[in-house]
Amino acid sequence: MRLLACGYLACLEVMAQLLRLPSVLCWHTHMDFVISNYYGARCENFSFFAPVLGGFVGRNRRPVHRALRDPRTWFSFEKGRNTITDIDQTTMTGHGTCVAVKVYRHDYKAFLFKDIECYYCVHFNVRTVNVLEKSETGCVTFPTGYTPSLEEACSEMDKNQALITMFNENYVPKNCRSAIEGVWHFAYQNRFSFTGECNHPEARIQSCQEPGNQFLIANQKFNITFKKCEGIKESFEGAKEFSCLGDWFVGKNHYFAVANTKESRKDEKYRCFVRNRDDDIYMGHSITPECSVLNTPENSPFRFRMDPVKQETVNPGCLLPKNFSGEWVNTAHTEADVFINQTHIIETTYPDEGRFRRTIYVCREQRDNRFMMARLNIDGCQKDYVCFEFVPRHHNIIRFRKGREMIKEEFSTVCSYVQFQSGREWNYDLMLAKDPVPVKCPVAGKFNFTQTGELRFETRILGGVTKSPWDHIYCRENISDLSVCDQDQKEIWIDAHYCISVDAYGRHVDIYSDPDYKLKCVGYWKENLKSYLITYDELDPYSKYRCWVYQRADLNKILMSQSVGPFCNLHQTVHGTGGGSAVAIKMVEYEREHDRCPMHFDDGANPWQEPGSQIHKFRFTAGSEFVSASLVTILLSFVVSWLLSRKP
Ligand SMILES: *[C@@H]1O[C@H](CO)[C@@H](O)[C@H](O)[C@H]1NC(C)=O
Ligand SMILES: *[C@@H]1O[C@H](CO)[C@@H](O)[C@H](O)[C@H]1NC(C)=O
Ligand SMILES: *[C@@H]1O[C@H](CO)[C@@H](O)[C@H](O)[C@H]1NC(C)=O
Ligand SMILES: *[C@@H]1O[C@H](CO)[C@@H](O)[C@H](O)[C@H]1NC(C)=O
Ligand SMILES: *[C@@H]1O[C@H](CO)[C@@H](O)[C@H](O)[C@H]1NC(C)=O
Ligand SMILES: *[C@@H]1O[C@H](CO)[C@@H](O)[C@H](O)[C@H]1NC(C)=O
Repeated sequence: MRLLACGYLACLEVMAQLLRLPSVLCWHTHMDFVISNYYGARCENFSFFAPVLGGFVGRNRRPVHRALRDPRTWFSFEKGRNTITDIDQTTMTGHGTCVAVKVYRHDYKAFLFKDIECYYCVHFNVRTVNVLEKSETGCVTFPTGYTPSLEEACSEMDKNQALITMFNENYVPKNCRSAIEGVWHFAYQNRFSFTGECNHPEARIQSCQEPGNQFLIANQKFNITFKKCEGIKESFEGAKEFSCLGDWFVGKNHYFAVANTKESRKDEKYRCFVRNRDDDIYMGHSITPECSVLNTPENSPFRFRMDPVKQETVNPGCLLPKNFSGEWVNTAHTEADVFINQTHIIETTYPDEGRFRRTIYVCREQRDNRFMMARLNIDGCQKDYVCFEFVPRHHNIIRFRKGREMIKEEFSTVCSYVQFQSGREWNYDLMLAKDPVPVKCPVAGKFNFTQTGELRFETRILGGVTKSPWDHIYCRENISDLSVCDQDQKEIWIDAHYCISVDAYGRHVDIYSDPDYKLKCVGYWKENLKSYLITYDELDPYSKYRCWVYQRADLNKILMSQSVGPFCNLHQTVHGTGGGSAVAIKMVEYEREHDRCPMHFDDGANPWQEPGSQIHKFRFTAGSEFVSASLVTILLSFVVSWLLSRKP
């Protein structure tokens, strides 16, 4: 098994699952992580869903699929009949035993089954953990004694057959948010039971997040309230409640599958919906447990024409600090873009590639550092209230924590400290300026370091041009170098192999090679007795922002560890084992004669002080009443010195 470039916290969790699997490959392309079984797994060890680990897709690296290893019973509607299929590690009802597997993609696989005489080739599209779509050959026979390959048997496949949708009988409900969210009024038509459109003003589709319980059952269901239309006898009156079984995209079509919670007849229970990214007016709905009948929202058997129910507006009642205004990146748990002005916080997250969610917070009431904000959800859903506690901005950083969402607008409840649900140990979440202005690094000077950890600094070509190692210079000694030596000491340069040979005059010879890493310091502070530093590197493909923990170990020794992502883990330490740290370094200062790079260390205890203010200015005036006194002192000293300097 190989595991490459798996970082971040979530990987540890996935790792535990991976260890039980056969050949698994984990790689990353820019920002995306993909975890997938290797091509050509063997049947006997191929647990059906194990490779559907998925991994992390999109900017926030949320696991998209979970492994399911147990046998599963599936319901499908095939050739007009209800069909039940059991699939376990090696067999499939009515198809015999698996003899070959081919994994094309983590969500697309081919299986070859053998029954007594017949071979069956089945292609599975894994849509969600609850929904499979299959296409298959019928019974394919070969001369006795001949063993066909998977490709041979599958060549019999009819490419134009409609995919059959299989629904997991013991489905695991999914959050509806990614499928449908909001409140709509709708008109509908059912091409198979009446002509025309039933449009009743009180018909509603309602899919709202319950405040404060992101993961509870309430958020895995949505409601459709049908109303009878006059003159349309077949129109339906009543409410239906659906559990969400997950959603997926095929081209521009956004499909989601549901189970009617009040229905026990299987062929009436499962349904498929389709929406379209470019057209949010129509939504299609199948009238059988099949998804392949839905080609576009508009010409589906059952069609909703929807218009969103508008949200009431909220007037701001307080102002956020002026220096919060601007664009930020929220690194808490998932990365989100944040826009802040004096009254609003607008947060945009990217749950999946090509999709985004926007949440708007409006300032309602402030006391000390706590701000009660109204949270406006997707159109139509009820607004709620949430409390933010902010630390005053320093450098390019806003530190905050956010409480639980509540329905009542009441400062004392919403902003009560228990709502923050911080345990005994906690640290603030971070918002980092989108275009940070570098600040003087809290650790500066020229250091020699040794490193430990999973993702170490290594020699690389920065920006495509490098002359390192320089050919015709004899390099007497190589070290790993970390320097913060630019004029204002705002940039950390790291060279994994740095030649420290000097010429006869003590000057550095290898003046042409570039550092491997250039990191801008964008802010630092001290929290929970640990010093934190955030650096910014726009060339870093994984995470532009990195969190460091640093500590002075001796007069000229400093320990630091760098995080895998932008998130400062509570358990990250300078020693770097675990706690989300990628690499830990031990640095020893070694400034040489011509380096002119003084050492500087600031533990971040007061991140608000102006740069340069650590230069101590002696103050003789402690308040206004002393001004006159000290003026008198100065005048007196002048008089005395004049008296003394007078020649007798
Ligand atoms: C499959 O699993 C069996 C035992 O569970 C093991 O002995 C065998 O080596 C495995 N085969 C492969 C290809 O991993
Ligand atoms: C759906 O409607 C039922 C009955 O009206 C209600 O109890 C339930 O809370 C509603 N669910 C959602 C998700 O709106
Ligand atoms: C803040 O932004 C919101 C949304 O863009 C806007 O409606 C509001 O007027 C702005 N407030 C101020 C004080 O500029
Ligand atoms: C931002 O403003 C607050 C006062 O509202 C002040 O304490 C803090 O130092 C300011 N921060 C910066 C970086 O200007
Ligand atoms: C760099 O550090 C190593 C070990 O900490 C030490 O042996 C070596 O002498 C140092 N080199 C310089 C130039 O200080
Ligand atoms: C210096 O590092 C390079 C790798 O960048 C290595 O090839 C070379 O042998 C090292 N030289 C010494 C003297 O350690």
